[in-house]
Amino acid sequence: MRTLGIETSCDETAIGVVDDGTRLVTSIVSSQVELHAEYGGVVPELASRKHVEAMIPVLDEALSDAGCALPDLDAVAVTYGPGLSGALLVGLNFAKALAFSLSLPLVPVNHLEGHIYAAWLKRDPANPRSQGPRFPSLVLIVSGGHSDVVLMEDHGRYRRLGQTVDDAAGEAFDKVARLLGLGFPGGPAIDRLTAKHGRAKTLRLPRARLDGAYDFSFSGLKSKVQRIVRGEEGDSPEAAELAAAFQESVVDSLVTKALDAAADNGAREIILAGGVAANSELRRVLAQRSPVPVVVPPPDLCTDNGAMIAACAHYRLAASDVATLDLDINPALQIG
Ligand code: KG4
Ligand code: ZN
Repeated sequence: MRTLGIETSCDETAIGVVDDGTRLVTSIVSSQVELHAEYGGVVPELASRKHVEAMIPVLDEALSDAGCALPDLDAVAVTYGPGLSGALLVGLNFAKALAFSLSLPLVPVNHLEGHIYAAWLKRDPANPRSQGPRFPSLVLIVSGGHSDVVLMEDHGRYRRLGQTVDDAAGEAFDKVARLLGLGFPGGPAIDRLTAKHGRAKTLRLPRARLDGAYDFSFSGLKSKVQRIVRGEEGDSPEAAELAAAFQESVVDSLVTKALDAAADNGAREIILAGGVAANSELRRVLAQRSPVPVVVPPPDLCTDNGAMIAACAHYRLAASDVATLDLDINPALQIG
């Protein structure tokens, strides 16, 4: 069963091919990072236009890398939300045209659910990365737009236990990196700077306390960094020290809530997913502190890609979740 997955929810035009839901055949990602960098964030109109330009070249590259042709496909999967409306529409309409012309099932995929399925993708079938899901799994989805704590009870069965009450984790990384003059996207920049200069030596930034047991808040932390940068709290430390202290605070909050939720709900494993799951400190601390196995996709499959959409679609299709050609985007789609 060979599935093509199309992802255009934000600023990556991405197509992946996956066999039987777990075997990664190819993942081609055309990033728009340079286009948006000069604006310090994603400009929706520019993103949509770039998706239109990139779609066919990315498809050609994916098929050529997979060594197959369109008639070899068994299904076409596409992200229909959440994300930027214009960007989603490009991928969705492209997927509809492909599915219709090839008489293939069109499988609608929730982008957040897609991120989870990157966890079980195998590059080398002889060396499986994981035994597959051990339900119930506790999933921490941390991306540019979301920070969700979700209990995955089975394929397609989710219960959201917590979320951010303000900024998403990736958004906080991006905003703080901008305050520190580190460029866009901020997460990889802060990760690299901290890896190079080491952990925070003396500075300790606060962790938010919230009523919701598994909820997060990162905007207070961002404001604190802003006050320090402006010199409102005495002499400003070096950018590397501030970046490390910020990352430490975010990682501590994320890991603490995920571990509490896993323990309280009898989770048999923890899955870390979404762009921020590429963060080396988050991966290290979660693996170190978790009493249950932690499953994390390789860094390049944590950020947006089409393979995760194809992987998830395999299980959606098994549950007969097939769309008709009147499928619409859902920019505010959630999980659980
Ligand atoms: O999942 P994703 O690629 O797109 C969305 O669905 O939002 O996540 C993008 C986010 C950005 O905010 C980016 O700064 C963050 O993931 N990110 C990271 C790292 N790599 C990407 N954050 C921290 N450390 C990283 N290494
Ligand atoms: Zn994403």
